[in-house]
Amino acid sequence: MKVTKAVIPVAGRGTRFLPASKSIPKEMLTIVDRPTIQYIVEEVVASGIEEIILVTSQGKSAIENHFDYDFELDTILKEKNKDQLCEEVCNISNLIDIVSVRQKKPLGLGHAIWTTRNVVGDNPFVVLLGDDLVLSDVPCCQQMLNLFDEFQESIVAIQKVPMDQTPSYGIVEGKQLRDRVFEVNRMVEKPAPGTTSSNLAIIGRYILQPEIFKLLEKTTPGHGGEIQLTDALLALSKQRPMYAYEFEGTRFDAGDKLGYLKAIIAFALRHPTLGPEFKKHIKEVSNDF
Ligand code: UTP
Repeated sequence: MKVTKAVIPVAGRGTRFLPASKSIPKEMLTIVDRPTIQYIVEEVVASGIEEIILVTSQGKSAIENHFDYDFELDTILKEKNKDQLCEEVCNISNLIDIVSVRQKKPLGLGHAIWTTRNVVGDNPFVVLLGDDLVLSDVPCCQQMLNLFDEFQESIVAIQKVPMDQTPSYGIVEGKQLRDRVFEVNRMVEKPAPGTTSSNLAIIGRYILQPEIFKLLEKTTPGHGGEIQLTDALLALSKQRPMYAYEFEGTRFDAGDKLGYLKAIIAFALRHPTLGPEFKKHIKEVSNDF
């Protein structure tokens, strides 16, 4: 079965990024020359997905506007003969079909995904968190779709983290099948220190079977009083096989201040025109402070 839809939840309040995220969605904060969310949408497009479902909330309309056609701006740029810029801005609205659903209360990631059930329907779908960036040669979403072609079952993207950081993540325990691929046995959201021997941390990329919606409906609030996706994933992994995939690339939590700064450095160094000059600058200033 082919995966054609991607869900991108962006309805969270972004409290880790206050005060910046008070009136600007954290997904709209800039990494070099475009907002975080545009990189994620571009990853989806590069992976051949046909439709995006954004889960939004109050105060997130700037995200929808960013991917909309702006007639006034188009006219102004044309009048000023800024043709290249005009084309670049226009292209953003032509990237892919985007629909939005509203999460009326921030009841957690699991609940955000559940709100898309009627739009996703009875098909497997990809989930990409709106503040999780992956820098890689092959888009992370594409890497996962390649594995899905083989297994046709749910897949969570993982990275190995130092053991003392496991309480900050959803953790997967499982059997290694081959390089980078594990079969999931157990999952736990933010395990207390010493309660797991695994350091396989779930990051913000998933391919899910639609059965997840029924399980989310039954999931009671877990860690932090929110409906946790990890709890429903554990239930799903008991019904049918689930795999964990250690993706190739570097992941940045752009919803966290330090992760965001690291992402800016990494993406700026890789930028085709700004990269070389920026690298020189970083080398010069790194001794000054
Ligand atoms: P995070 O916990 O990283 O985002 O959720 P948050 O809640 O916005 O941020 P903090 O923790 O307060 O700083 C991971 C993803 O799930 C979405 C977020 O938008 C983010 O993309 N999310 C989270 C929702 O869509 N709805 C929610 O109720 C919670």
